Amino acid sequence: MTKLEELREQCLNCRDCGLCETRTNVVFGVGPEKAKVMFIGEGPGENEDLQGEPFVGRGGKLLDDMLELIELDRSKVYIANMVKCRPPKNRDPLPSEQAACEQWLTKQIELIGPRIIVCLGRISAQRFIKPDFKITREHGQWFEKDGRRVMALYHPAALLRDPNKRPETFDDLKRLQLAISKL
Ligand code: URA
Repeated sequence: MTKLEELREQCLNCRDCGLCETRTNVVFGVGPEKAKVMFIGEGPGENEDLQGEPFVGRGGKLLDDMLELIELDRSKVYIANMVKCRPPKNRDPLPSEQAACEQWLTKQIELIGPRIIVCLGRISAQRFIKPDFKITREHGQWFEKDGRRVMALYHPAALLRDPNKRPETFDDLKRLQLAISKL
């Protein structure tokens, strides 16, 4: 068993916060063990909870389309969430739940060692990049964290709600594509 597989096994048994009471499945994350690019969403929704995989609902389909625009296949990137269990009724994960869950993502990043991290949406960017991250102003900008390049995109669910944000996201994706081409 690889270290990442071991971590997954431990995570699947996690009972560190109340979300373990209502989850169907822990959604640990999927992708190559040594992916160079990692996407971090907020937390599982209903479909993800049922299937145990991140971004498999409508938002996931849009994420696939976004990746396709820059000739990136889902199978080539690692996809995970800040919080591994579904918050009931898709509410935002509480700060205490995020704090309890953070250890899993931190270890995941250490083991995978991505060169580029893309936060999907405000919640992920505020937790991962900086607490006062403004998604409307700072999406598509590059930040550095622990020697990795990090950017945030609008969350696919936000792009489904407001298609006017899509042209900006297309520009952000192009910046991402350029950075990947230089790896
Ligand atoms: N939204 C997220 O942030 N993550 C998922 O896995 C699905 C929807």
